[in-house]
Amino acid sequence: MRKEGAAEEGDGGNVFRFGGENLFRNDLSKRELKKYYDKFFAQTEFDNPDEQVAQRFLRTLLKKARVPTGAAVLDVGCATGFYAEQFRRLGYRAVGLDISSVAITKGALKYNLLPLLVGDAGALPFKRASLDVLFMSGCSLANTSDIASIRKFIESLMDHVRDRGVLIFVGGSNLTGEFPSQSEWIHHRYSEILNFVDREALDVEGPYITAVKLVAMFGRLSLTKTMSRVLRLLGIKKTWSIIYIVRKKGAGSTLRSK
Ligand SMILES: C[S@@+](CC[C@H](N)C(=O)[O-])C[C@H]1O[C@@H](n2cnc3c(N)ncnc32)[C@H](O)[C@@H]1O
Repeated sequence: MRKEGAAEEGDGGNVFRFGGENLFRNDLSKRELKKYYDKFFAQTEFDNPDEQVAQRFLRTLLKKARVPTGAAVLDVGCATGFYAEQFRRLGYRAVGLDISSVAITKGALKYNLLPLLVGDAGALPFKRASLDVLFMSGCSLANTSDIASIRKFIESLMDHVRDRGVLIFVGGSNLTGEFPSQSEWIHHRYSEILNFVDREALDVEGPYITAVKLVAMFGRLSLTKTMSRVLRLLGIKKTWSIIYIVRKKGAGSTLRSK
């Protein structure tokens, strides 16, 4: 396993990268993660896609996941609430949750109709089996070289989802296995990404290799095994969106394992 870098200078060299390594063991890593993001959001605006593009992207994902309009969607690691707000505008009952109180405060000022909560994705403040849909895009708790910890994290999220409820997981990777020094993001290999989710325990669609703009342009055609394979084999070095649709198994589940 790679040695994880410190989240910021002067943090005493704690062993985590956005908290991933020590996710389920070490409260300190979450404190540091919050500190990192509070500082980030105090200084920076997050780079989001155009609203129309984002809405077409989300609409396609929700159709693919067979989520009816009006369903309740929790955006886990919502930052200042950009995606949660797009869900709301599309007619979903959206709530955003983020560990950074600075991000949530900023979001509340921007999107005054959107419910936003400060909370930890690793310990969601909701009862077991109570949530319909979780959307999680680029959450730092999946940004670890420890694939077992990503699986455990996804399992813990699915614990909060009701029978046949769904997690829409959106990650990012250029598929090279690089851990570039100038970036905070781990580019998992495809073989690692394949192991993010336990296919025995959960109904899984994906991973799809795609891009937000491709999904917005081509809809469900850009969320297929064939398209994913073509993009992978073309070998273009670009940070692709990695998409999983994960559904809790339950009587009458309509998703097929792929
Ligand atoms: C890379 S940003 C992605 C933001 C947004 N989801 C998007 O796709 O634009 C990661 C976000 O996850 C949040 N985050 C990191 N760890 C978290 C945790 N344990 N619980 C909740 N949010 C967390 C960060 O504060 C940050 O807003």
